[in-house]
Amino acid sequence: MKVGIIGTGNFARRAPLPAVASSPGVELTAVFDVDAASAANAAETYGAKTVADSRAQLLAMPLDLLFIVSPPYTHAEVLGDVIDAGVPFICEKPAGISSSQVSALAARADARGLLHAVDHEFRYEPRVIRLKQAIDAGYLGKLRLSALTLVGAFAVDPEIDSMRWWSFHYSKPHGGGMLPHYASHLIDLHRHLFGGLEAVAGYTPHLIDAKPQRPNTPGGTPGPMRPIDAEDSAALTARLPGGAPSTIAASFACPCMPSLTWVMHGDRGALIFDGGTGGWVGGATLRGMRLGEAGPVEIEVDDRLPEGIQSGSPYYQELIKRLLQDVRQALGKSQRTGRFATLHDEAAIWKAIETWRAPVST
Ligand SMILES: NC(=O)c1ccc[n+]([C@@H]2O[C@H](COP(=O)([O-])OP(=O)(O)OC[C@H]3O[C@@H](n4cnc5c(N)ncnc54)[C@H](O)[C@@H]3O)[C@@H](O)[C@H]2O)c1
Repeated sequence: MKVGIIGTGNFARRAPLPAVASSPGVELTAVFDVDAASAANAAETYGAKTVADSRAQLLAMPLDLLFIVSPPYTHAEVLGDVIDAGVPFICEKPAGISSSQVSALAARADARGLLHAVDHEFRYEPRVIRLKQAIDAGYLGKLRLSALTLVGAFAVDPEIDSMRWWSFHYSKPHGGGMLPHYASHLIDLHRHLFGGLEAVAGYTPHLIDAKPQRPNTPGGTPGPMRPIDAEDSAALTARLPGGAPSTIAASFACPCMPSLTWVMHGDRGALIFDGGTGGWVGGATLRGMRLGEAGPVEIEVDDRLPEGIQSGSPYYQELIKRLLQDVRQALGKSQRTGRFATLHDEAAIWKAIETWRAPVST
């Protein structure tokens, strides 16, 4: 499978570029970035055969798949051209900047009969796959309650260079904010595991008001402070299929004790997904208890990821390699669906975010 990558910035280097370069049956054929030096460096580092001079040149190449890792505010234009060129694609989350924009892109891709995937790679996390098996097999019975708390330090950790300075991640018109940038993976998992989620109301403040502009040169003087308009914290309510209530409390502005705790209850059983001190999907333990059982038991997960990669770049690379194989399999069978999320899923996630962000009338 010949793959081209659009956007060779921070995340592309952490995961998609090395994942494509090291996946069996997959070739990193070409890269393109509006920053030509970044594209050339990425090609050299990850062994891409061609550095395209323009998006048009890349789209004229015989590629089986494009992986779009440019920022969300570029996706309408970039994906529009990719769809017109008739190339199947995986787009980084958040795809686009609104539900209407992403729905329109999904309709255009469908009209061309193109596979479209969105990189919600946690669908390939073995613990999530085990959780889905259990829920699909009726472990919970009828849903009664889901409550997720997700706490991270991304926006306040001085070691995370990409978040230290003002960027699109902090700007709603650019597709930024904690919900699309961080919690969207877990919102996707609610829809994936429970078969849907309808947002009811939310409180989505930004408690950090401004970030400095990135210095012109590494180590230089930071630029002036620039205001933030996108949420860094949220308390959300939603309705799950069958009417069960769901809450999500999330922040990426808490410097101490990252955590992910997800409690799910039904009329036949309960499951607890606990991210432990790592506070993320990778280090999670999974426990469950069914009606009539004496106490919770650990639920075994057969398919462990390689030792020691519960977080960080190798972890993301491994999940994206699994996504690539799923997409490759679908393309091989001329299918357009798999375990992967699509633009339709992303449009539904954006719709929920828009509802949660809307002011609540009193
Ligand atoms: N799936 C995940 O877990 C995950 C994690 C982190 C980031 N991301 C997503 O990855 C995407 C990129 O984020 P990032 O942190 O790497 O940003 P970044 O700014 O570091 O990199 C973006 C790159 O895209 C390039 N670019 C901008 N406009 C372009 C265009 N029109 N055509 C081609 N290249 C263009 C920029 O020059 C830059 O090199 C975002 O959507 C982000 O949310 C996903």
